[in-house]
Amino acid sequence: MLTVNEKDKVETALEKLQRKNEEALLGGGTDKIAAQHKKGKLTARERIHLLLDEGSFEELGKFVTHRSAEFGLEEQKYLGDGVVTGFGRMSGRLVYVFSQDFTVFGGSLSETFAEKICKIMDLAMKNGAPVIGLNDSGGARIQEGVVSLAGYADIFYRNTQASGVVPQLSAIMGPCAGGAVYSPAITDFVFMVRNTSYMFVTGPNVVKTVTNEEVSAEELGGADTHASKSGVTHFSCNHEVECIQQIKKLLSYLPQNCEELPPSVSCDIPKDASIPALNTIIPENPNQPYDMKEVIRGVVDPDSFLEVHEQFAENILVGFARLDGRSIGIVANQPAVLAGVLDIKASVKGARFVRFCDSFNIPLLVFEDVPGFLPGTDQEWNGIITNGAKLLYAFCEATVPRVTVITRKAYGGAYDVMNSKHIGADLNYAWPTAEIAVMGAKGAAEIIFRKEIITAADPEAMLKEKEAEYTRKFANPYRAANRGFVDEIILPQDTRRKLINAFEMLKNKAVPLPKKKHGNVPL
Ligand code: HXC
Repeated sequence: MLTVNEKDKVETALEKLQRKNEEALLGGGTDKIAAQHKKGKLTARERIHLLLDEGSFEELGKFVTHRSAEFGLEEQKYLGDGVVTGFGRMSGRLVYVFSQDFTVFGGSLSETFAEKICKIMDLAMKNGAPVIGLNDSGGARIQEGVVSLAGYADIFYRNTQASGVVPQLSAIMGPCAGGAVYSPAITDFVFMVRNTSYMFVTGPNVVKTVTNEEVSAEELGGADTHASKSGVTHFSCNHEVECIQQIKKLLSYLPQNCEELPPSVSCDIPKDASIPALNTIIPENPNQPYDMKEVIRGVVDPDSFLEVHEQFAENILVGFARLDGRSIGIVANQPAVLAGVLDIKASVKGARFVRFCDSFNIPLLVFEDVPGFLPGTDQEWNGIITNGAKLLYAFCEATVPRVTVITRKAYGGAYDVMNSKHIGADLNYAWPTAEIAVMGAKGAAEIIFRKEIITAADPEAMLKEKEAEYTRKFANPYRAANRGFVDEIILPQDTRRKLINAFEMLKNKAVPLPKKKHGNVPL
């Protein structure tokens, strides 16, 4: 057996490099890799391999090691120090990637680990390309103390500087505890994998100690919890391969940076195609629900709708799609859930999506069927005023091309909020089934004809009569069209053609904003 020094002597320089490269590829070693696989998880390098175009990955910092000498760490050094970083191509487009390696100190973040991530984030900012983070980490490397906390803060700072400059995507592919959750939270989209990934500030044991609650890791911070309850994650995936496919799909709708336009693809359907199926989606009875996804899918290019935040606040739909091959962002009320009412969660979900699209030059299309804001103490005490204002603010400040189609109800403040002409929408269409008024006919009649109703010989008949009068006058799109608040009342079957023409007309839209440092969005 040769000692290390003897080996150095007989090894050529090229052989030494090869040996070190091979060592780096093993991360924390074969046993740790086997343990990772046993949990149903891929390694950091396997994930990068699936993510990027074959042979395109260029690794940076492969031989970086930590600088810590505490708790025996000086004896435990792994080349790369627990994170694989670099750049590569995804469908030919440049992306920067970091992939945390759980086989090395549980993917925990050291000073040098953070420096590696910061290096690729700085490159991404200078060169204008997305950053994809594959997270699998026990949080701050406990043996390093404050140096590790500083490393996290360096990343958070860069996440914030990069926000709105380049798209930032975070996949959670293992436990992410403590500091490991805050960087993903600042990024634009979070993906999680069911049963193998968790996000929490403190895990089940700490929860038990502090609040005496018994809760499993999956229930506390698993993919479905964050997809449906907290809204922390935008995509909940069945396995890691699906997660990586979803990342690729999402990126296909996005530009490389805030200076560029999103990529477009070819579309086989003629621009002027009529879609008669749209004519029969709205039920005769205005109180009967229907699925707004049918409207969306009927209008956009086939199979192009990628829903974001599918399990969260289902009364509003947000997602990307293509119209004649061009990316658009869609915000739509969903009458099939809670009648499409706007509540706190729906407002926050919509607002964040609108702001993302506006940051990255993605035109906005709104389908509107909204009975108003949700009343009640729960909503008021939890701040529907401030939270509803987020959606209002987001639309008001958006300068991308903006088009609205009112399919049915557009009532009250929600009419204003949902991309009305008054807050900067460029074109507003309504279907003949649209009802644009301050409130529903029954409620309106009860208020404005209260005296007539209570003094009538037959109050019920009088209410019905007044309700019918209000419906005749206001439950239609013609008053708004008379005013020019609605630009055109269109047949549903023509919607796709109208929208393609609208966005084509708006493609050079430029709106100067008043000079300011930044606005004060009602957080
Ligand atoms: C150093 C760590 C580590 C950490 C795990 N390891 N977390 N080493 N610092 N934070 C090591 C373990 O010692 C172990 O080493 C290996 O990684 C794998 O860990 P296991 O516990 O065996 O794996 P598992 O059972 O899958 O559990 C994973 C885990 C758990 C849930 C992540 O390890 C855990 O709870 N870790 C601590 C989480 C935490 O409290 N982090 C600090 C948060 S404070 P060996 O050698 O045995 O294989 C924080 C502050 C930042 O992040 C705040 C910024 C805002």
